[in-house]
Amino acid sequence: MKKLLILLGLLALPLFAQIEGDLAVPDIEYPAPKAKGVNTYQANCMMCHSLGYITNQGLQSKEFWQEKVDKMRNAFKAPITDRDAKEIVAYLNSVYGLKAKKK
Ligand code: HEC
Repeated sequence: MKKLLILLGLLALPLFAQIEGDLAVPDIEYPAPKAKGVNTYQANCMMCHSLGYITNQGLQSKEFWQEKVDKMRNAFKAPITDRDAKEIVAYLNSVYGLKAKKK
């Protein structure tokens, strides 16, 4: 019993450990270029990850963006309505489509 108590005490130790000094977490802000649909995009695509996941894809076709939005909704269960999804695909195509200028 005593051994068990000691063991439990040891296991709990890390719970009380303090972090020494400053813990710096990089705070990177990814841009969301202003265009029609930017609010819908920001409201729906930052729930689970940063916009970096999107900007890092580079310029892509409308089909590519459609597939990504579908993947977020179907595979990852992102609660995005049909209407918002359509607006977001149009937005992504306008700012990160193949015809968009590199930002
Ligand atoms: C419900 C959570 C959730 C939401 C909301 C969400 N994503 Fe994702 N997204 C994920 C997950 C999970 C991954 C995969 C992460 C990994 O593989 O490490 C991901 C990855 C990505 C990637 C990387 C490429 C890939 O195929 O994995 C892109 C691009 C992307 N998301 C775009 C979007 C866009 C655009 C939106 C808004 C329409 C969005 N995400 C909203 C969960 C989400």
